[in-house]
Amino acid sequence: MAEEFLPVCGEEILHVSNLSVNRSGNEVIQDINMSITCGEFVGIVGPNGGGKSTLILTILGLLKPRIGQIDVYGKAPMSKATIGRIGWVPQAATELPHNLRITVKEFIQLGLLSRNFFRQYLDFFISPPAFFKQRKKNQIKIDKIIETVGLKQYANTMISNLSGGQRQRAAIGKALASEADLLLMDEPMVGVDVESRNSIMRLLDDLCHDQNKTIVMISHDLASMKRTAHRMIYLEHKIRYDGTAEDFPDLSSLAELRGIEATHPEADSTKSDVTKSDDVVIIVSPGAEGGES
Ligand SMILES: Nc1ncnc2c1ncn2[C@@H]1O[C@H](COP(=O)(O)OP(=O)(O)OP(=O)(O)O)[C@@H](O)[C@H]1O
Ligand SMILES: [Mg+2]
Repeated sequence: MAEEFLPVCGEEILHVSNLSVNRSGNEVIQDINMSITCGEFVGIVGPNGGGKSTLILTILGLLKPRIGQIDVYGKAPMSKATIGRIGWVPQAATELPHNLRITVKEFIQLGLLSRNFFRQYLDFFISPPAFFKQRKKNQIKIDKIIETVGLKQYANTMISNLSGGQRQRAAIGKALASEADLLLMDEPMVGVDVESRNSIMRLLDDLCHDQNKTIVMISHDLASMKRTAHRMIYLEHKIRYDGTAEDFPDLSSLAELRGIEATHPEADSTKSDVTKSDDVVIIVSPGAEGGES
């Protein structure tokens, strides 16, 4: 039963300390320290090549740290105990094999193959009524997800016949169908239209509030992240900002933070104070301490 695994909110589920990762001999992320608690919706933003995907791949255990440590649910990445607890929507999830001969509905249903799958399968023999009740519940859940990701009219269409944006929505749907407590999403909204994007973001926010799910989403859509995420992390090799979405620096402060000089300084009237700590840069916007003006 899913209830058995409902995490206690406020519990730390991810801890990253002194993490540095090399790719092809270059250190692409450096001195990363962060802690994420259950129920948080964390937006990770930053420039191309800033190391966002690298961080997620390392949390998943697909890349190894050069130094530092990651604990997911108190265990090392890829530990047996974390199987089924982590859902992942990879960057370019649309690049699914072209010969994939399954429908949208079947594809999203694959998300149900979670850690509870064998328990449910056993129910078929031990308690058939419980099995059929669960099957009905799953059907309702899948139909709702298909509707939320805007694919109702394509439910029986082959995945291979969808457009890129539609496939992306199917990939999000599959992650939503899983029983995972921690969803790691790498630019999941690329190619998704505004209407579906809004309904998916609402659903994700509800999942955090109602089901204690934890969401870590990489996105280049600053406006949308600021509206939905509870917390934002700006990653450019190091963590440059880690704080509330409300206090996330404005564009001018961000440029300053990244060392980008104004070509027309006289026109840059929104200059703000930037306070640097060792790892994290805290931005104090003019007029509103700790807040964006
Ligand atoms: N497969 C790879 N092999 C070697 N280096 C890589 C590989 N993938 C990425 N890199 C390098 O690692 C660095 C960080 O890349 P990463 O993909 O983590 O950035 P990102 O922040 O996710 O960028 P984007 O916003 O473009 O997706 C970049 O300098 C990139 O060139
Ligand atoms: Mg990336």
